Amino acid sequence: MRTLAEYAKLVNERLADLLPKLPEGSYVEGEMPELLVRSMNYSLLAGGKRLRPSMFLAALEMLGGDAEAWLDFACAVEMIHSYSLIHDDLPGMDGDTLRRGRPTNHVVFGVGQAILAGDGLLNGAFELMLGRALANGGDARASLRAIREIAIGAGVTGMIAGQVMDLHCERNGEAGEAAFRYIQRDKTACMFIYPLRAAATLAGADEAKIDALGKYGEYFGRAFQTVDDLLDVVGDSAEVGKTLGKDAEQGKLTAVSLLGVDGARKLAQQQCEAALAALEGFGPEADFFRNLMRETTQRTK
Ligand code: IPE
Ligand code: IPE
Ligand code: MG
Ligand code: MG
Ligand code: MG
Repeated sequence: MRTLAEYAKLVNERLADLLPKLPEGSYVEGEMPELLVRSMNYSLLAGGKRLRPSMFLAALEMLGGDAEAWLDFACAVEMIHSYSLIHDDLPGMDGDTLRRGRPTNHVVFGVGQAILAGDGLLNGAFELMLGRALANGGDARASLRAIREIAIGAGVTGMIAGQVMDLHCERNGEAGEAAFRYIQRDKTACMFIYPLRAAATLAGADEAKIDALGKYGEYFGRAFQTVDDLLDVVGDSAEVGKTLGKDAEQGKLTAVSLLGVDGARKLAQQQCEAALAALEGFGPEADFFRNLMRETTQRTK
């Protein structure tokens, strides 16, 4: 097992090489316009914790898979995450102007181009995974299943569904436990659950292990969002790299709006414990995930 920083480095190096290097302003038929490369890379290479792709690689290695061989799948997960952030920040959504410590994509490139940069990252993620699956050969059913898991996590019963309900509750002042739980699972936890399931599938793990890692992903993701909601209230903007205090201003349904700061802290602790319990069938090989869960409940960025 490697460290989170080592996995993140692997991902960062590959991401930097993914898109073509083109002369500024160029557009050649059959190639990406340089403007699209620039706007996609602006958000993709802007830092970020690289948590989802790193956890994907760690799960793969923990279960005996080859992290280098499937590195493009990890990068695809980060591309999907970056697209979700570009769209999340748009004026019609959360209307944010600061992300990863710099102006948001639409502030720099305009709303239309930001939508397209997000679209490019989403479509590009699937092109990349399909290309890698074809190049690697091997068990085609496993790679198809893994790509489908990632599609489900990002999709209409996953992240997109959560974003729909997040906006719906904000716009209609809807609150309550059921809507809150729905939003946490779908908008955030699904981008952990399904990439982890995909990694376990590619490593050839049995169904029980795939489900256990998915369960861990669910509680990890819920705790991650609970802490994100807390940081919006008690965090330091310079450290978090986002404009804070906006959830309350916009009337978002969050752990803090529902439970208050102390209640949200308790919830994060319970979710942390549930995530650790999901790993009970694993030995010390899963310590990476145990430690990451504990660190995440204490995170300040
Ligand atoms: C932000 O995710 C969106 C949420 C789900 C809260 P991260 O906090 O992982 O963002 P980056 O990738 O580190 O910028
Ligand atoms: C966003 O949740 C989750 C996504 C699917 C992008 P938030 O709206 O709370 O994320 P931040 O706080 O803007 O990063
Ligand atoms: Mg949002
Ligand atoms: Mg947001
Ligand atoms: Mg937030």
